[in-house]
Amino acid sequence: MNILGIETSCDETAASVVRNGRDILSNVVISSLKEHSRYGGIIPEIASRRQMELIHLVVSEALSTAKLSLKNIDAIAATSSPGLIGSLLVGISFARSLSFAAKKPLIEVDHIKAHLYASFLKTPRNESAPPKLPAVGLVVSGGHSSLFYIKDFKRIKLLGQTRDDAAGETFDKVARMLKLGYPGGPAIDLLAQREKKSPLRFPCAQIRNSYDFSFSGIKTAVLYYLRDNEKKSKLGIDKIAYAFQNSIIKVLVEKSIAACQEKKVKTLLVGGGVACNSGLRKLLTDAAKQCHINVFFPPLTLCLDNAAMIAGLAYHL
Ligand code: KG4
Ligand code: ZN
Repeated sequence: MNILGIETSCDETAASVVRNGRDILSNVVISSLKEHSRYGGIIPEIASRRQMELIHLVVSEALSTAKLSLKNIDAIAATSSPGLIGSLLVGISFARSLSFAAKKPLIEVDHIKAHLYASFLKTPRNESAPPKLPAVGLVVSGGHSSLFYIKDFKRIKLLGQTRDDAAGETFDKVARMLKLGYPGGPAIDLLAQREKKSPLRFPCAQIRNSYDFSFSGIKTAVLYYLRDNEKKSKLGIDKIAYAFQNSIIKVLVEKSIAACQEKKVKTLLVGGGVACNSGLRKLLTDAAKQCHINVFFPPLTLCLDNAAMIAGLAYHL
């Protein structure tokens, strides 16, 4: 079964054809990120205008790369929520029209659940068997930080989520304070890789007996540190980046492992842009190994927003 997936929940215009839920025949992503960077965040109006211009081209490209025409497509899938409303409207309206005109079924897909699916897709570097369910899933992106219990892809239960900022949003806001540009996650990650320790401590709020997160306090801790130490600080930006990143990833690792233990599952799926973070990948892999848990990180391109995860999950829906 060939499914055409469409994803337009944030700044990306993406389309992909996935066969039988695993084989990626094409995966086209065009981002308008550069057009937003001077504003320090995504401007919804710019994103949706670009998506209107690009959607036809991106879908055509996905079909031609897959060497298929619309008549070889069995179903059309599109992200229906959550996301920027104008951006979602472009993708879902295009998908609905195409489904109506081509007489193909339309499958609406939840963007966050699709991030959990990314580790099930086959890539040249991942030909291995799919992860085993049930699993715990951690989605950490610019808009979300959530933990799930996944019995199967129709039965996904939310265990906890952020009460304020998302993890990626926190990386972006702290990067802005450090004048590292937008998006800030990759820049902080690079600086943190230069360090192995830091005398600084930026604590994250501990929400006990809950799988909820809170990341807004750590932003304020970094802000006050920068304000109070602007002149006298001899500590470089690398040490700040390291201490900040470590504090965030420690909470993510602790809660993910605790959820696996409580739910007695041996599979942990990670997805979303922050899953690209090298510190998180290492710490979580080490912690999971100690607890005999198999942790799955998608390749970097599939951690970020893409339509292959939409088409892949749609196959199971
Ligand atoms: O999943 P995604 O592409 O979009 C959303 O659905 O939000 O995630 C984008 C987020 C941004 O906040 C970006 O700063 C963060 O992922 N990110 C990272 C890294 N790469 C991207 N955060 C930390 N370390 C990284 N290496
Ligand atoms: Zn996303």
